[in-house]
Amino acid sequence: MHAMRRPFVGGNWKMNTTRAEGVALVRAIVSAQRMPGCEVVVFPPFPSLHAIAEALEGTSIGVGAQDVSAQRAGAFTGQVSAEMLLDSGTKWAIIGHSERRHGLGESDELCGKKLNRALEAGLRMVLCVGETWEERSAGRAHDVTHRQLAAAFVQVGFERLASVVVAYEPVWAIGTGKTASAQDAQEAHRSIRKWLGSRYDSRSAEGVRILYGGSVNASNAATLFSEPDVDGGLIGGASLKAAEFVSIIAATQPARPSPKS
Ligand code: PGA
Repeated sequence: MHAMRRPFVGGNWKMNTTRAEGVALVRAIVSAQRMPGCEVVVFPPFPSLHAIAEALEGTSIGVGAQDVSAQRAGAFTGQVSAEMLLDSGTKWAIIGHSERRHGLGESDELCGKKLNRALEAGLRMVLCVGETWEERSAGRAHDVTHRQLAAAFVQVGFERLASVVVAYEPVWAIGTGKTASAQDAQEAHRSIRKWLGSRYDSRSAEGVRILYGGSVNASNAATLFSEPDVDGGLIGGASLKAAEFVSIIAATQPARPSPKS
């Protein structure tokens, strides 16, 4: 965490929750969440977005989609445009998640198109990048994340950088119970920030939030978040339990020493 960047915690619900379950989950989060200094966004499945956005109206918690189309409108069966998301009260979208890159074969180039199109439409974006275990073992982790960044930001102008949050999610850590060590996460985040500094400028790069994702839970969050370039987390499994998600949000605020009696 760095004082100049507002911490961010996202809850990626993946393909979980009915509307009723989602509304109950956000109500429980709202009633327990006491960290106004942290930006919190939940990412429910598409059919729940409108209901969750309504349930969160007047609260400080935002709503995002788990994906967005690179197209504006037309014959694109199954896709959802940025305008449709905005119309349903959705302000954010995730792109480049490994479950889409690796699970569905989405290319770096497609991520670039989605990022540019969605930013133009006015969404705020979480861009996921991260290497597989084979790529890490071959010493290529930084090359892979830099390649993914280069393709994603290819058309994104300097003025839109502030609307993007980057999530470093090593593929081998997602849903596996294995987390990157805090040092490895810090090294990856620093290298992402350096890349942003060379693509844009170092001052703008210092303002970009970079989240860690991959098996974050209430026990390991504070250690990961204590690293200077780790500005919060993108949370999968642990975001489906209100109490655990709220503890992860609380871990973005460094513990104050208790007053001496
Ligand atoms: P996980 O998922 O926390 O369940 O590992 C993280 C993510 O996929 O964003």
